Amino acid sequence: MELLSLWLCLGFHLLAVEWRNNGGTATAASQGGCKLTDGAADCRGQGLASVPSSLPPHSRTLILDANPLQTLWNHSLQPYPQLERLSLHGCRLQRLGRGAFRQQGRLRSLGLADNRLAQDYREAAAALRTLPRLQTLDLAGNSLTEDMAAVLLHNLSSLEAVSLARNTIMRLDESVFEGLEHLRELDLQRNYIFEIEGGAFDGLTELRRLHLAYNNLPCIVDFRLTQLHFLNVSYNGLEWFLASRTEAAFELETLDLSHNQLLFFPLLPQCGKLRTLLLQDNNMGFYRDLYNTSSPQEMVAQFLLVDGNVTNITTVHLWEEFASSSLPDLHLLDLSQNQFQYLPEGFLRKMPSLSRLDLNRNCLMTLHIREQEPPGALTELDLSHNQLSELHLAPGPSGCLRNLRSFNLSSNQLLGVPPGLFASASNLTTVDMSHNQISLCPSPAPSGRAAPHSCVDFRHMASLRSLSLEGCGLEALQDSPFQGTPLTHLDLSGNWGVLNGSVTPLRDVAPTLQVLSLRNAGLSSSFPELDFSAFGNLRDLDLSGNALTSFPRFGGSRALQTLDLRRNSLTALPQRAVSEQLWRSLRTVYLSQNPYDCCAVEGWGTLQRLQAVADLALVTCNLSSKVIRVLELPGSVSQDCKWERVDTGLLYLVLILPSCLTLLVACTVIFLTFKKPLFLLIKTRCRWSSVY
Ligand SMILES: *[C@@H]1O[C@H](CO)[C@@H](O)[C@H](O)[C@H]1NC(C)=O
Ligand SMILES: *[C@@H]1O[C@H](CO)[C@@H](O)[C@H](O)[C@H]1NC(C)=O
Ligand SMILES: *[C@@H]1O[C@H](CO)[C@@H](O)[C@H](O)[C@H]1NC(C)=O
Ligand SMILES: *[C@@H]1O[C@H](CO)[C@@H](O)[C@H](O)[C@H]1NC(C)=O
Ligand SMILES: *[C@@H]1O[C@H](CO)[C@@H](O)[C@H](O)[C@H]1NC(C)=O
Ligand SMILES: *[C@@H]1O[C@H](CO)[C@@H](O)[C@H](O)[C@H]1NC(C)=O
Ligand SMILES: *[C@@H]1O[C@H](CO)[C@@H](O)[C@H](O)[C@H]1NC(C)=O
Ligand SMILES: *[C@@H]1O[C@H](CO)[C@@H](O)[C@H](O)[C@H]1NC(C)=O
Ligand SMILES: *[C@@H]1O[C@H](CO)[C@@H](O)[C@H](O)[C@H]1NC(C)=O
Ligand SMILES: *[C@@H]1O[C@H](CO)[C@@H](O)[C@H](O)[C@H]1NC(C)=O
Repeated sequence: MELLSLWLCLGFHLLAVEWRNNGGTATAASQGGCKLTDGAADCRGQGLASVPSSLPPHSRTLILDANPLQTLWNHSLQPYPQLERLSLHGCRLQRLGRGAFRQQGRLRSLGLADNRLAQDYREAAAALRTLPRLQTLDLAGNSLTEDMAAVLLHNLSSLEAVSLARNTIMRLDESVFEGLEHLRELDLQRNYIFEIEGGAFDGLTELRRLHLAYNNLPCIVDFRLTQLHFLNVSYNGLEWFLASRTEAAFELETLDLSHNQLLFFPLLPQCGKLRTLLLQDNNMGFYRDLYNTSSPQEMVAQFLLVDGNVTNITTVHLWEEFASSSLPDLHLLDLSQNQFQYLPEGFLRKMPSLSRLDLNRNCLMTLHIREQEPPGALTELDLSHNQLSELHLAPGPSGCLRNLRSFNLSSNQLLGVPPGLFASASNLTTVDMSHNQISLCPSPAPSGRAAPHSCVDFRHMASLRSLSLEGCGLEALQDSPFQGTPLTHLDLSGNWGVLNGSVTPLRDVAPTLQVLSLRNAGLSSSFPELDFSAFGNLRDLDLSGNALTSFPRFGGSRALQTLDLRRNSLTALPQRAVSEQLWRSLRTVYLSQNPYDCCAVEGWGTLQRLQAVADLALVTCNLSSKVIRVLELPGSVSQDCKWERVDTGLLYLVLILPSCLTLLVACTVIFLTFKKPLFLLIKTRCRWSSVY
């Protein structure tokens, strides 16, 4: 007995040693829940109440995000004198001991976002001042006011990037960023800044990137930060943006003024290096008509600049200022969601490098395409959601659209485009003319006579790949509307009756088409059978919202991956379609919202196994007058269906048989009842000799 217990003890001991050894090998990769890799310790979200003291002393990176440290003591970081990067995001820090970083002379990056440093910011400031090499400091989300920020940043002259995002700063003056002469990037997003005093950024000679998005700035006049490369003032209340005329040219490359209240195009003299100008969602327009002046030169704005008790009135000649500035490097101009009714002549000529112009969601009614306007470099032009009823093309070879690749004219009031417009755009790959009441030009106009103005001809556009004609009110396609145009994407949705009984008008594009949308196109059961066998490269086909009663044919197509048959009139999935090799390539099929007959859904088992039916849970079928989800079809249904399927002739027979039998029996009884007298009668009449 004692021997046994000794054995047991030994066994346990051995097990324990074994277990401990395992633990020992594991610490090489993690210690106290911290992941260790090559000089970095990652202790994110470990519920630590203090900085662990047993991490490798030569660690260069320490990540302690999301631990409830609350206080960083004077001694907390003493074991780690080699730290270069320390991250303390979301540690509920209220207190940074003034000696907390005394040993961290090498620290270059310090993340203190989402803490409570406002509580004891003076001690925190003293702690920060002991970091002579600090380059990056993140103080976002600490409820800091401008005064606290000024104290925290005071004399941190080594800083190159500071984030003060998500604090409660309201105004900026010279004192806040004093002495940060190496600062290159400053993030002030999501504060409540409504005022920036003249010299607030004057000391920041190295500043390159300034984020001021989501503040309350009402205007920026006399902007003079020539050293900036990037300025983001989106989501403010700006009504004006005026750059001042300075001796030095601006270095600005990206300017984001989107989502403001700008009334006029910003005045940007000497911003020759600007590449990206984002002005989306403002109230801008050109106001010649409003002021009723013969030339826009007379448009003048006066500014009252109030500085203490001094009021200074500045007069700006808007158009002259604009006309005198040019933007030779501008590549991207986003003017979407504004109030532009027209673009003045010469406006786009100032931007010879422009490659993308967004003018969607404005009030444009006509657009003149002239020489150099839009500039020849343009590759993307978006004019969707305007009120364009006319495009004017200057006569003669303009070639200004020669580099255009994408042209979006969706949702306008165009009836057609000027003949020759697309012919000059020899690089055009994508055209969106959806939601315009256009018609397609009839078969080639007799030579010498141009096609009528109010139609569009898409023939022989060798570069065009993608064409959307959704909701264009197109009549039934005639002849070969896409001859010589190797489209890969075609959208004809929402044109009721566009294919009048056959897909032959699409025969020219059938070999190249990859994506075809015929949603709500009035395809109906009068079609003998939709045959897509010739569409050998078709990958994606949308036939939803039609009135198809039979499954389309695909021949031996192996390319088809996505098929949408929702909202049709299919009553069954033919076994043939289900067994076709089509289903081997199909990845996604939509079949719901069809009035399937529950008794004709034998293909379902196969389909479910194929897992291609994306909306299987929504597929329903009709059983008598009930609608049942196919997935929830009870087993007894096949029984019910058998009854429903029984030959009606047989059914009648079964119903009639009992009556017939009754009748027969009745007849026999009657017959037998009267049989004897009759027999007797005959017998007596004939006087046969009887044996009985
Ligand atoms: C750090 O040390 C200083 C004295 O050097 C002391 O005044 C302060 O309270 C200490 N703070 C913390 C958080 O340890
Ligand atoms: C800031 O630096 C200047 C000169 O380098 C020095 O005179 C001043 O005392 C410092 N201020 C603080 C609060 O450390
Ligand atoms: C400007 O800031 C907003 C808000 O943070 C952001 O959505 C936008 O992308 C920024 N603009 C640029 C050009 O980075
Ligand atoms: C514009 O000015 C012309 C004369 O210069 C005048 O006839 C016309 O009525 C004015 N229109 C408006 C809207 O003020
Ligand atoms: C403006 O105020 C300053 C004092 O704040 C005063 O010295 C000066 O005279 C005032 N100027 C005018 C024009 O009132
Ligand atoms: C008004 O401002 C302009 C430019 O900022 C300056 O040149 C001019 O001296 C100022 N006038 C007064 C009266 O302050
Ligand atoms: C199409 O664009 C390329 C550059 O994007 C240009 O080199 C070429 O000349 C253009 N094609 C035509 C026919 O203009
Ligand atoms: C054209 O613009 C509309 C609306 O702005 C957009 O929905 C559509 O995707 C754009 N078309 C293309 C081809 O980019
Ligand atoms: C549609 O097709 C039918 C017969 O195929 C033809 O009679 C009719 O004219 C066609 N309709 C149109 C608008 O082309
Ligand atoms: C299926 O049921 C729906 C809803 O009750 C009904 O509208 C539809 O006509 C039925 N279809 C058939 C083929 O019975």
